[in-house]
Amino acid sequence: ARIVVLVSGSGSNLQALLDASTDPAYGARVVAVGADREGIAGLDRAAAAGVPTFVERLKDHPTREEWDRALTARVAEHRPDLVVSAGFLKLVGPHFLAAFADRYLNTHNTLLPAFPGIHGPRDALAYGVKITGATLFFVDAGMDTGPIVAQVAVPVLDDDDEETLTERIKEAERRQLVEQVGRLVRQGWTITGRKVTTGVSTP
Ligand code: GRF
Repeated sequence: ARIVVLVSGSGSNLQALLDASTDPAYGARVVAVGADREGIAGLDRAAAAGVPTFVERLKDHPTREEWDRALTARVAEHRPDLVVSAGFLKLVGPHFLAAFADRYLNTHNTLLPAFPGIHGPRDALAYGVKITGATLFFVDAGMDTGPIVAQVAVPVLDDDDEETLTERIKEAERRQLVEQVGRLVRQGWTITGRKVTTGVSTP
C-alpha cells in the first residue's frame, strides 16, 4: 500500500513508519512526505530515507481554499491508499477531505474526545487526569473528532511535567501508529458512521 505522510515538526512518528516499512512484510511504503513549512526535521528524515518531499505553505496562497486545493493536488500525485497526518499542524479543507475521504488518518496525543487541540498533554496535566494516552482516528471536518481506529492508555505520574508526559505518550503513540497502519493496510477497513471495522466483511 502507498502512504503519504504529512508533517509539521520533528517527524518521530514519520520515522517509525519509515523504519517499519523497510520490511516488505509490513505491507505499506511511505511514497512521499508533505509539509506545510520548510526547515523541519521531518523533511530531513524523509530525505535521509530517500523518500520524495513537497512543501505547500498556506502563506503562498491567496486563500485557505487555494491552499487546500494545492495540497490536495500534491498529495494526489502520489496516488496514496492512505494519508497519515503525523504531527501535521494544519486543518485541511473540504477539497482534501473529499479527495481522501475515509483514507486520512491522524494521531493525537490524548485519549479523545478529551483534550483535543495542539496542547493535549499540557491540558491533560492541568486537568489532573491520571490516565491519558494517544488516539488514532480518521479525520473528518471537525478538530480531532473523526471515527476512532485505536487508543492506547498511558499513566500520568505524580512528578510529570509537560515534557516527560509528552515523551511517554509519544513512545506509545508511535508503537500504536505502526501497528495499526500495518493492520489497516494488510486487512483493509470499512467506516460506517463512527465505527471502524478492519478486515474484509463477508455478507
Ligand atoms: C505527536 O505526539 C502528535 O500527537 C502531536 O504532535 C506529535 C508529533 O510528533 N500532534 P512528531 O513530529 O511525529 O515527532
